[in-house]
Amino acid sequence: MAADDRTDHLSKDPSPGRSQAAATGSTTSSRPLTPRPDLSTVSSEPGSTKPDPIVKGSDITRQFGGLKAVDVEHIEIQRGIITALIGPNGAGKTTLFNLLTGFDVPDSGEWSFNGNSLQGVAAYKVARLGMVRTFQLTKVLAKLTVIENMRLGAKDQKGERFFKAAFDFLWRRQEDDNTVRADDLLTRFKLDAKREDFAGSLSGGQRKLLEMARALMVDPELIMLDEPMAGVNPALKQSLLGHVKSLRDEGRTVLFVEHDMDMVRDISDWVIVMAQGRIVAEGTPDTVMADPAVIDAYLGAHHDTDLTEVDVAELEAEAEAELDAEADEQEKTH
Ligand SMILES: Nc1ncnc2c1ncn2[C@@H]1O[C@H](COP(=O)(O)OP(=O)(O)OP(=O)(O)O)[C@@H](O)[C@H]1O
Ligand SMILES: [Mg+2]
Repeated sequence: MAADDRTDHLSKDPSPGRSQAAATGSTTSSRPLTPRPDLSTVSSEPGSTKPDPIVKGSDITRQFGGLKAVDVEHIEIQRGIITALIGPNGAGKTTLFNLLTGFDVPDSGEWSFNGNSLQGVAAYKVARLGMVRTFQLTKVLAKLTVIENMRLGAKDQKGERFFKAAFDFLWRRQEDDNTVRADDLLTRFKLDAKREDFAGSLSGGQRKLLEMARALMVDPELIMLDEPMAGVNPALKQSLLGHVKSLRDEGRTVLFVEHDMDMVRDISDWVIVMAQGRIVAEGTPDTVMADPAVIDAYLGAHHDTDLTEVDVAELEAEAEAELDAEADEQEKTH
């Protein structure tokens, strides 16, 4: 669907889920929907400026020993769309996520969320500001139940503060609200039947869903997903794709890291390519994936496949075939 079609759709139909959310205080975003921007005018230069960036960063570097894992001159993430961050293993994608969300500290750089500097802001405060992330290796707590994991995702736990804990009823009311929201989210992510199960008993895909659901407990404006499809079986993939799209369609901004190129092509509005710590290309999915430099250098010949699941035997067979062909060629020329 073209960006214009979506804008049209959004302006005519400001999400039926939204009015429901207002009535129940439930799981969809409470922000007004803004029309999706026209990305056709955005430059494909790495680090290009965006019409309405929710995140802006400059000169962000992180070194591990002799290795510069992140070396980003400039980055802007457009509000209200799905941006994919792609690049080969070790490109620095997760490290950049860690830096932007306060889970790691850069050696240099400045960055902001909604115009507010996030330098030195702790991860839990970043989440309260409306910027949450999920992890490449899911961090659900295996020995807690699904609903307990969800409650842990809630922000502003009034019970945490002593003077408010003194007013027990206030605390209880918030816990009730959190439970209602958690149950709504579990239903939305089809995890309600697992409510009382230990998170450790869930499949890889269900854990990814739980992490996404838990991230939504804080009603974030920006949700950052680190490889949401990794380890998810094909049956769940389609439903996960739908969930990610629904986050955007209710007005949130999504930034996700993914090796699954089908997913990237299918759901992203904009793609940023990283390699060796730097942003090396940007653009719409079609432009980026058709860029010969990106294909050759960063996606390889297997750009149509899931890079984490490339069949090693198949690669070896291909390499052998290539060597054989080369040997044949040489025989012919001698
Ligand atoms: N805590 C750390 N200590 C030392 N080196 C690290 C650390 N974290 C990351 N690195 C290194 O930094 C580089 C970037 O790693 P990062 O995990 O950010 O890459 P990535 O793009 O997320 O890769 P993948 O697609 O495999 O998840 C890699 O070379 C990695 O080995
Ligand atoms: Mg990673």
